[in-house]
Amino acid sequence: MDIFCIRGGTPLHGRIALHGAKNAALPLLAATLATGARCELHDCPDISDVTAACAILRHLGCAVEQHGGIVAVDAGSACRSDIPAELMRKMRAAVLFLGPLLARFGTAELSLPGGCVLGARPIDLHLRGLRRMGAEITLDGEHISARTDGLHGCTVALPLPSVGATENLILAALGCRGTLTLCNAAREPEIADLQCYLRKLGADISGAGTSTVTVGGFRPRPFVEHTIMPDRIVAATILCAAAACGGEVELQDVDPAHFSTVLDSLSEAGCAIITAASAVRLTSDGQLTAPRPVVTQPYPGFPTDAQPPLMAACLRAKGTTVFTENIFTNRYRHAEEFRRLGAAVSIEGRVAYVTGVERLTGAPLTASDLRGGAALVIAGLLAQGTAYIGRREYIDRGYEDIVRDLRALGARIKG
Ligand code: EPZ
Repeated sequence: MDIFCIRGGTPLHGRIALHGAKNAALPLLAATLATGARCELHDCPDISDVTAACAILRHLGCAVEQHGGIVAVDAGSACRSDIPAELMRKMRAAVLFLGPLLARFGTAELSLPGGCVLGARPIDLHLRGLRRMGAEITLDGEHISARTDGLHGCTVALPLPSVGATENLILAALGCRGTLTLCNAAREPEIADLQCYLRKLGADISGAGTSTVTVGGFRPRPFVEHTIMPDRIVAATILCAAAACGGEVELQDVDPAHFSTVLDSLSEAGCAIITAASAVRLTSDGQLTAPRPVVTQPYPGFPTDAQPPLMAACLRAKGTTVFTENIFTNRYRHAEEFRRLGAAVSIEGRVAYVTGVERLTGAPLTASDLRGGAALVIAGLLAQGTAYIGRREYIDRGYEDIVRDLRALGARIKG
């Protein structure tokens, strides 16, 4: 079915383990292309963005097998360096194949990537860094042609800590003579996961998780096995749902430090949160109070991807929650849908004011991006009556089976 049907009003109880992180899996899949090695990625989420990345690898000639949370890639048979537009437009992370193609083949033909419409999403920082490393890149409309006679080490200072640009330049550096020093690099945990994989692959890389990453020599190993880190944004989404609906939910195989700012906001809103090394338990009476202002920032600040789910959780919180979205210029489209349920949300530029209301009433809603769609699911769980959420394909891009996970916790949802 393409529509989720939700009957809200029930608390959530139970325990679930999380699948691997979409935003770690996608750069890791691109990284498999950088050498002719074979690799096995474990805990790889079964989501449409992973399917899209595997389709790109197969198009390039790699042998790819997906079964039971394991993706096995044999990149030894990769034989071409062009990616057609129909594969590029499926997701923003398709651009992460540019760096490894230049590292492996010294050439790449692709087009601008697609992905969630969250405002302008240029790739100028990717291209500027690659040019500094010795790539000649021309952009003709949507088409990108790139070639190099050999990438070389240098220092690249990013004007802002772009996650994708950090990952793309790290992957290109695998084909470099000399050392790449990346300043003002993004510090997200997914980049540390990429560094862990690349070290296993034989790369001399350090600094991931800090603002300065260096990539030196590379002696590729023939086989790598890696377990992908758990998805901290899926974790935040589930906990926002539990906070709003009330109940007690425990997440296993998750690192609470990866989304501590979200846990802080949920605690300020009145939830009781207990954390262990790889688990989090949240208890809520469902009567939330507006947390302190939420300001999205690059990691380790509050993650922009958790802004929509937390906003949904605050729709009935006592008082007014103030959100400031600093990462993307148009990431409040879910607010319009919340209003259809009776929510009181007003937007002024980058700032959203959410004043808690007594009651939300189920209505037909339409997702328009991944995390906003997940936020609509949470809002539907909070509403009296039945909510319907269309365009579920957006949600399926990053959540393996949100219906399965929420039903396991007692939610009345089908889709
Ligand atoms: C990654 O996107 C994530 N996607 C996003 O998650 C996440 O929201 C974002 O990082 C920020 O944390 C993946 O990892 C696959 P950026 P990315 O480059 O790399 C601007 C989700 O829902 N910018 O850090 O595209 C850009 O416009 C998705 O899972 C440039 O100006 O994010 C944005 O305003 C959504 N020029 C800001 O930087 C560039 O060349 C942050 O973008 C690149 C980025």
